[in-house]
Amino acid sequence: MSIQTLIDEQTLAKRIAALAKEIRADFGPNDPIHLVAVLKGAFMFLADLIREMDGPVTLDFIAVSSYGSRTTTSGEVRLTKDLDRTLEGRDVIIIEDIVDTGLTLTYLQDILRARDPKSLRTACLLSKPSRRKVDVKVEHIGFTIEDKFVIGYGLDFDERYRNVPFIGVLEGGS
Ligand code: IMP
Ligand code: MG
Repeated sequence: MSIQTLIDEQTLAKRIAALAKEIRADFGPNDPIHLVAVLKGAFMFLADLIREMDGPVTLDFIAVSSYGSRTTTSGEVRLTKDLDRTLEGRDVIIIEDIVDTGLTLTYLQDILRARDPKSLRTACLLSKPSRRKVDVKVEHIGFTIEDKFVIGYGLDFDERYRNVPFIGVLEGGS
C-alpha cells in the first residue's frame, strides 16, 4: 500500500493561514471566537489553524461517530463526547476535517444551534461536493476535492494514517 500526495504540507500551511484570516475577518479584532473542534479528524487542522489566528480565541472539543461501513457514513450520527462549556452568547465556529455527504455536519449544526450561540459558522478543511446528500452550509472551506477517499493530516482509514503530515490517497491493495 502506498500513499499518493493530494495536498502537500506547504499548500496546506498556506491555505490554512488564509483561512484563519478569513475566519477572523467576520468579527472585530478583539471579539472572542469560540472554536468547537470535531474529534478526532480535525485535531491537526485545529492545531495549525489556531496558531494563525489573531485576537481572543477559546477552544472546546466534541466527538461524534457515525454508524456504517468504514469509508461511508450511514447517516446515523451519535454524540460520543460532549462539550465542556456552554455555547450561550458565544460566536462559535465548528472546526471539521471534511464534509462528505453532509450528514455529520448537519447533525452537529442542529445540536449546537439549539444551545443558543450568538452565531454559528463552520470551517472545514476539505469538501467533497459530489458526494453531498444534504445541503449543508459551510462558510469556510479549505480545499474542494474530487470523490476520493483521503487520509492523513488527522484523517484516518480505520484509525490509521492520522499521523501522515499531508493529505494523501491510498493506492494498491490493503
Ligand atoms: P459525512 O457525514 O458523510 O459528511 O462524513 C463526514 C465524516 O466522514 C468526516 O468527519 C470523516 O470522519 C469521514 N470521512 C468522509 N470522507 C472521508 C475521507 O475521504 N477520508 C477520511 N474520512 C472521511
Ligand atoms: Mg470526522
